[in-house]
Amino acid sequence: MSEIHNLATSDLRIEKLEAGYGSIKALHGVSLVVHSGQIVSVVGRNGAGKSTLLNTACGLISASSGSVSIGNVELTGSAPYQITQRGLALVPEGRCVIAPLTVKENLELSKSAGRSKYDEMMTWVFDLFPRLFERKSQLAGSLSGGEQQMLAIGRALVTNPDFLLLDEPSMGLAPIVVDKVFESLIQINNEGIPMLLVEQDVMLASAVSDYMYVLHQGVVVAEGVPDELMNNDALNTAYLG
Ligand SMILES: Nc1ncnc2c1ncn2[C@@H]1O[C@H](COP(=O)(O)OP(=O)(O)OP(=O)(O)O)[C@@H](O)[C@H]1O
Ligand SMILES: [Mg+2]
Repeated sequence: MSEIHNLATSDLRIEKLEAGYGSIKALHGVSLVVHSGQIVSVVGRNGAGKSTLLNTACGLISASSGSVSIGNVELTGSAPYQITQRGLALVPEGRCVIAPLTVKENLELSKSAGRSKYDEMMTWVFDLFPRLFERKSQLAGSLSGGEQQMLAIGRALVTNPDFLLLDEPSMGLAPIVVDKVFESLIQINNEGIPMLLVEQDVMLASAVSDYMYVLHQGVVVAEGVPDELMNNDALNTAYLG
């Protein structure tokens, strides 16, 4: 696969990012970095600002200040389709597959992202998720939750991203299905795609991450490698109040 995917050689950098909804500010200057090859996670409880962070990075929400960049390419202020073209792909919270379209049609939508190696990436997605291949003519709305999550991940991969952003891929799935989804994430990362993963489940995130950030009320209150962070009081404060 390394010959199919262009390995990212730059970092994804989020600096002092601020964003919100009208007068409600949800991010108060969040900074983080994802180095090439890494899985970095952002953990935090409901309402911490995790989805706002990913959606702002992808241009779905406008940043009021701060920046998002890959290497020296600035993404802030660009439209979502331009950000996808520059290498950032989002697997959104709740999966957001297009229910009345088939699996294959959902994946084909990513062709409009206009990135390279579309055919190779389609083949790779079907290799990664044979379940999707078997069901390529099935309507996405009739897939199980786990299959829909695979489809959401597949749809992002077909854009041939330099970085994958994942918003709570474990949400609403049975533990055994979560394990399968996370095994695929590790496999995808091993093939050279770095990830920024948002999770409420700290144990799950710590098991796969190279580095972690704890977000609390729109502020990074702790960060570190998983082993260190699991003993940090700020983690308990962020979760237990
Ligand atoms: N569309 C919106 N309009 C107004 N406020 C919003 C909107 N979406 C989110 N918020 C607020 O922004 C803050 C951060 O929400 P966000 O969805 O980013 O949190 P989260 O960490 O993703 O939570 P969860 O784990 O429940 O998905 C919360 O206070 C939330 O109420
Ligand atoms: Mg969320």
